[in-house]
Amino acid sequence: MNSLNIRLPDDFHVHLRQGPAMAAYAATTARRFGRFMAMPNVTPPLTGPAALADYSRAVAAAVAASGYAATPLACFKLTPGMGREAVFSCAAAGAVAGKYYPAGATTNSSDGVPEPSAVAEELTAMQEAGLVLSIHGEDPSAPALERERAFLGVVDSIVGSYPRLRVALEHLSCAESVRAVLAWPERVAATITAHHLSFTIDDLLGGSLRPELFCKPVLKSAADRAALLEAAVSGSPRFFFGSDSAPHQPEAKAAGAAGCYTAPVALSLLAAAFEEAGALDRLEAFVSVSGARFYGLGPNPGVLRLRRESWTVPASVDGAVPPAAGRTLAWAAERA
Ligand code: NCD
Ligand code: ZN
Repeated sequence: MNSLNIRLPDDFHVHLRQGPAMAAYAATTARRFGRFMAMPNVTPPLTGPAALADYSRAVAAAVAASGYAATPLACFKLTPGMGREAVFSCAAAGAVAGKYYPAGATTNSSDGVPEPSAVAEELTAMQEAGLVLSIHGEDPSAPALERERAFLGVVDSIVGSYPRLRVALEHLSCAESVRAVLAWPERVAATITAHHLSFTIDDLLGGSLRPELFCKPVLKSAADRAALLEAAVSGSPRFFFGSDSAPHQPEAKAAGAAGCYTAPVALSLLAAAFEEAGALDRLEAFVSVSGARFYGLGPNPGVLRLRRESWTVPASVDGAVPPAAGRTLAWAAERA
């Protein structure tokens, strides 16, 4: 197959940051995605309706300036003490999800959740409001490669304690998580990134260190990647795309910041991974159908065209280094 048209995809997990850099990041995502959920780990954090509305306005303006027809989706940051009213007000201000960051697990999460009981009131309110609980599932006190596995018990307790809460476990990185998702009820789904479907820890540090591949959760083994790919190509509505595209400028990367800027390359990486699995025909379900269905959204109006066309990934895009920088990719993606 040399070309493939799919319904315009969605990205249910993307970091657009704030300030002057946001315009470029938003344009790079809006160019290829019909909808995208902007993550709330900015400063100050999006923990109430006013901050959320301000941020949503800034994102909407950046998208409008890009010239692409795309719809941002809003997500607030769940923090202890936020309170039930703030949850309902965030829903009224347009939030479709609230994000659970275990305290200290990743970029800007020191104000996150120490344990689920600290946000019991808020989780009850989210369940009542029909909001999706989006979870960064890592226990920061566990060894780096075991953090996701170590957190599955916490997710299990949340799923059990809130029987109507819809949960999206973000950026799966290991085989155990795939098995856990399939064992939970259907109201629990998971996102998988393009980098976890394409690279392993050996790509990150088996040769020369490639900081552009350093992210949380850290890339894992070839067996983990294979399990994630099997889940992504399975056609199961439980697994859908969230890029976790997380740009950091070179100074921040040099200081060790975690995050892969995949927005410029994600669809090319996904096409290659699905082709490797002999499942290009399942790509549309993964990027354009299953996530929308989980979030109760209709299909996007546009079409994305994937073409088999070699292109070299620039050394830098929007000031950040994307995965596969300087390498040649086999698939190009543009709106049709
Ligand atoms: C993300 C960031 O930089 O905001 N970093 C990352 O490594 N994925 C935060 C996150 O989603 O963990
Ligand atoms: Zn993220």
